[in-house]
Amino acid sequence: MDKIKILLLGSGGRECAIAWKLSQSKLLDKLYIAPGNAGTTQYGENVAISPMDFEAVGKLAVEKGVDMLIVGNEDPLVAGIADYFHDSEQLSYVMVIGPSRLGAQLEGSKDFAKGFMQRHGIPTAQYLSVTASNLEEGYAFLEKQRKPYVLKADGLAAGKGVLIVDSLEQAKRELNEMLGGLFGKSSSTVVLEQFLKGIECSVFVVTDGKDYRLLPVAKDYKRVGEKEKGLNTGGMGSVSPVSFADDAFMAKVKTRIIEPTIAGLAQEKLPYTGFIFFGLINVDGDPYVIEYNCRMGDPETEVVMPRLKSDLVELLIDTATGKLSEATVEIDPRYATAVMMVSGGYPQSYEKGKVITGLDQVEDSIVFHSGTKLGADGELLTAGGRVLAVTSYGATKQEALDQSYKNVNIINFDKKYYRRDIGFDLK
Ligand code: AMP
Ligand code: GLY
Repeated sequence: MDKIKILLLGSGGRECAIAWKLSQSKLLDKLYIAPGNAGTTQYGENVAISPMDFEAVGKLAVEKGVDMLIVGNEDPLVAGIADYFHDSEQLSYVMVIGPSRLGAQLEGSKDFAKGFMQRHGIPTAQYLSVTASNLEEGYAFLEKQRKPYVLKADGLAAGKGVLIVDSLEQAKRELNEMLGGLFGKSSSTVVLEQFLKGIECSVFVVTDGKDYRLLPVAKDYKRVGEKEKGLNTGGMGSVSPVSFADDAFMAKVKTRIIEPTIAGLAQEKLPYTGFIFFGLINVDGDPYVIEYNCRMGDPETEVVMPRLKSDLVELLIDTATGKLSEATVEIDPRYATAVMMVSGGYPQSYEKGKVITGLDQVEDSIVFHSGTKLGADGELLTAGGRVLAVTSYGATKQEALDQSYKNVNIINFDKKYYRRDIGFDLK
């Protein structure tokens, strides 16, 4: 195979981890990241372009002779960037990792995803989609549920569109507010769900639309406070592998969830080439789908990529060219753990522009940048809520965690915060 030029879209820890992995490939000629962050410059060239500016992305791809586009975040996929490339005479030769707009509906519309799962017999919580026209039916559905009540904005809402509330009155009130525009157009349809009790995990595959390959299973820790208390965040840390995702559980995940999903996409003619992220919940040993995402997870990618031993560029070429049936995926048997260092105050208001020190003293961890940028004098500055993910390997989970925490203590910035209990087993 010839070496290729790749353009990666996104600017988070996920993209930093993907860039890190791509940069190790014998098949990489040149990597561009748009827009990237201060960390991605170690692995490729950042270009200051927004992933949502399709015209600019397309122009850059032509100018640089890009062979492959990897879309890190969901917004451009849901808005149709894969179709934009496919339909353009100048860009249709580019291999795109990421589904078509129709395929991305698995993440872009929760109503669509629930209907899809129902059509294909994929286990998921009972649900009802509600708009202003069937509000009474919505109330009746809520009245039949036991607390807590789960309400989801149909469309993308930057991870904030899910409400889980304890009282029926509050659930009805929130339903009205959501339909009235709490999340703008995203909540003009609301999906009400039965609450499922169990432990969650994140399962990732790459698919060429026919075959798939499983990537390492991970678990993220979503709440800002220890013992999973407090506000929801983008993710405060992650571990891989996941103790309960054993062979018996994964066999069920494959036959009940992954295979019917890929067969369903093909059957419904929803073009899909790229990553599928299955957000699963283990209910007494049986997996249920909580959500689909059409991209990798963040901070899960920061432990998944380090455990992938195979050449990522080769795997993605096989994905884009429909040859996944020939691909092998080798996985590092060690544990990987990522501890997120965040700006104090996150996920609410926080300050940016704090000087980050200590990175040069880090040993035996990989530091993936999330919200960072270079200052005028080349100093490293915080530029977001989630700042750095400190990933380590270990023969045991504890060994990996100890190593991550050792380096988290070496790295400093004003008002740094992190959870001290990443990796704990939720029961
Ligand atoms: P989502 O954006 O759909 O992943 O939902 C955000 C979070 O809400 C999930 O990660 C779960 O922790 C929780 N959640 C969503 N749906 C349910 C459900 N039906 N039962 C229990 N928890 C849920
Ligand atoms: N860590 C969950 C997500 O990326 O959506």
